[in-house]
Amino acid sequence: MRVLGIESSCDETGVAIYDTEAGLLAHALHSQVAAHAEYGGVVPELASRDHVRRMVPLVREVLARAGLKGAELDGVCHTAGPGLVGALLTGTLTARGLGLGWGLPVLGVHHMEGHLLAPMLEPEPPAFPFLALLVSGGHTLLVEVRGLGGYRVLGQSLDDAVGEAFDKTAKLLGLGYPGGPALARLAEQGDPGRFRFPRPMTDRPGLDFSFSGLKTFALNMLAKVAGSEQDRADIARAFEEAVVATLVIKCRRALEQTGLSRLVVAGGVGANRRLREALAGLAAAHGARVYYPRIEFCTDNGAMIALVGALRLAGGDRGDGEPLVRARWSLESLQPPGAA
Ligand code: KG4
Ligand code: ZN
Repeated sequence: MRVLGIESSCDETGVAIYDTEAGLLAHALHSQVAAHAEYGGVVPELASRDHVRRMVPLVREVLARAGLKGAELDGVCHTAGPGLVGALLTGTLTARGLGLGWGLPVLGVHHMEGHLLAPMLEPEPPAFPFLALLVSGGHTLLVEVRGLGGYRVLGQSLDDAVGEAFDKTAKLLGLGYPGGPALARLAEQGDPGRFRFPRPMTDRPGLDFSFSGLKTFALNMLAKVAGSEQDRADIARAFEEAVVATLVIKCRRALEQTGLSRLVVAGGVGANRRLREALAGLAAAHGARVYYPRIEFCTDNGAMIALVGALRLAGGDRGDGEPLVRARWSLESLQPPGAA
């Protein structure tokens, strides 16, 4: 089954075609990062307008790359939530228009399910069940993935998402948006021994996270130093160490509690080198294995949406009568395909 997938929940327009037999046939992405950079964050209305401009050309591009015509597909899928309503609507309406024109079923996909299953786009995909750590600009989740549509949320952020904490702290340090990669670069020059940030919520049981205190900690620390390049690098380093250590402690706990031996890491922060190294160490100590999507599929993309859509349509899901978009949508409310 060959399915076109469209992602437009935030600031990336992604389009891809996934074939349940042959795998990923084509994918294309337009990132709006530059358009939002001068505002220091995503401006929803600008995002929606840019999706409208980019989407149809990207659909043409992936069809051409796959050497297919629209009517040769078996379905069209789009991110239906969670995300920015205006941005989501551009994908939903494009998908529904194309589905109507080509006579194909249309299905809305959960954005987080896309992130969770993105490693299945790689040559050695993880088998079910696995533990997934989802660390992006909008979400921090630890999820037990029993199978397609079988998700139990073990822990989540009570305030800022990890990526958001990186971005806000980067802003305090005078770095541009999105700040995560820039902060990680600055941290490379930092002295790991100079400052120590707290590891929030690790001294009590449970798998929830709280990262908003770290940016306040960074702010207070910044007020105590002269603010030289080296000071900022040292603070960046200590911040990054605290985030990584906290994530590793929670992943260790989750592996022990569930007895799982596969850990999937997805979302933009999964690109962080120090996090990857620390998780590799954790896995080695636990006889576990860590799986990542390739870097370009760690962040938002159309391929993960086409993948989930194809698996779900092939499993018997139909989008008839579903809402256009869902700004909030619980991952645990999802069912295996064909269950509805
Ligand atoms: O998954 P994603 O594209 O966003 C959402 O769907 O929300 O992830 C973007 C987030 C941003 O907050 C960005 O700063 C962060 O991932 N990020 C990083 C790194 N690369 C991206 N954070 C830390 N280190 C990195 N190398
Ligand atoms: Zn995302």
